[in-house]
Amino acid sequence: MSKNYFNEVSLIRKKRDGLSLSTDEIKYLIDKYTKDELPDYQMSAFLMACFHKGLNEEETSALTHAMLHSGIVIDTADLWEDKSIKNIDKHSTGGVGDKLSLILAPIVAAAGVPVPMISGRGLGHTGGTLDKLESIPGFDVNVDLDRYKDILKRHNLVFAGQTEDIAPADKRLYALRDVTATVECIPLIAGSIMSKKLAEGIDGLVLDVKHGSGAFIKDVDEAKILAQTLCSIGWSFKKEVTAFLTSMDQPLGNEIGNWLEVKESIDCLRGKWPADVREVTLLLSGAMIQMGGKASSLNEGIEISLEMIENGEALDKLREIVIEQDGDVSVIDDPDSYPQTKYSREFKIGGDGYITGINAYLVGMASLELGAGRKEKSQAVDHQAGITLHRKVGEPVKKGETIATLYTNNEKQFEQAESLLKDAFDTGAKKPETKPMITHMIDSKGLRAFDYGEVPSLK
Ligand code: URA
Repeated sequence: MSKNYFNEVSLIRKKRDGLSLSTDEIKYLIDKYTKDELPDYQMSAFLMACFHKGLNEEETSALTHAMLHSGIVIDTADLWEDKSIKNIDKHSTGGVGDKLSLILAPIVAAAGVPVPMISGRGLGHTGGTLDKLESIPGFDVNVDLDRYKDILKRHNLVFAGQTEDIAPADKRLYALRDVTATVECIPLIAGSIMSKKLAEGIDGLVLDVKHGSGAFIKDVDEAKILAQTLCSIGWSFKKEVTAFLTSMDQPLGNEIGNWLEVKESIDCLRGKWPADVREVTLLLSGAMIQMGGKASSLNEGIEISLEMIENGEALDKLREIVIEQDGDVSVIDDPDSYPQTKYSREFKIGGDGYITGINAYLVGMASLELGAGRKEKSQAVDHQAGITLHRKVGEPVKKGETIATLYTNNEKQFEQAESLLKDAFDTGAKKPETKPMITHMIDSKGLRAFDYGEVPSLK
């Protein structure tokens, strides 16, 4: 059928009524939206229909292809003389306090594996790597294609945002989904992630698929479906893909908010890690180093990662890339010199005993209310705003003790954030059992429970 015969309202109705769309129909909608020929309100209706009725495997594949080819697919074949060099990236399905990319990308690049990283902005209650990077004064994520390749070649690392060249359909849809409550949908998440990752010119991808209160997909069985969908798309493009399923039941680390997370990442690169951040970062960096051919096992990849921290090369790599991408390196060297928010407030706990749970979604929403995220597409984020957690699950607390500090430049926002936080913390008399951070993995051998015995260096 010629595309002239498509009618957007009929296509939205078709999906609304639970029918499948053809590859051409999906391509038509995505192409029109990318060219600004389909208004936000019609795309919003289509996204909501997808959210409620789902997309089957063919539709998900068609969506990914249409989004990927809405821009160029970067060709990195001519970048390296040594043809055994592989470009490896990582992507997370999104979480609260998830600053791992900022830590692992310099580790992996320092270990000799090139990392071309195209990231997104904050989505819903979760933060985004781009917003975090832009909290470094001057840091420029808007690199064009020539600069992207040049930076990658010289530093083994580049941090970029989507331009009008690279998966522009995802750039637009991502921002629209963020403000239309259409994020938590497996096919839409899969299309979004894989279109931008496949456009980067990667050879392999390590995925961090999160489940729990702070993830878009709360249930572990649903997360397995998402992980399998992501891997299948990657494999169909002949890329090496490994996915790990990790817990997002409480925020990762102690800092939530853009600059606060950069600051915590600098601490980690200096060897001062919160235990949960250490575990998942090293897992993912180890897997990337192994995939890039610089380690013969995951365990060895983790050992190399630790070496990059201990010898300072990972931190040097971050400094190098901040300077290269026009950022002010003085705040990396002296994070305390970063300007403070105008207002801060202590949050005190109502109960005694142990922290038995921290609802990461509510903490993420509280941080967004303080200014760290967006409620509408064009809203600017407050890079300084966010939350520092002084206690995590399993730690003892006394009634009236300060368990979090809230930061904002808009004093009016404290009330809303505090009311969210009131429901976020659970306390109990008994210390809760520690649950594993990494639950499952998927690679070419299939889906299985994660075996900690294979990675002694994680402990
Ligand atoms: N990360 C993405 O890039 N896209 C999504 O839809 C969710 C997480």
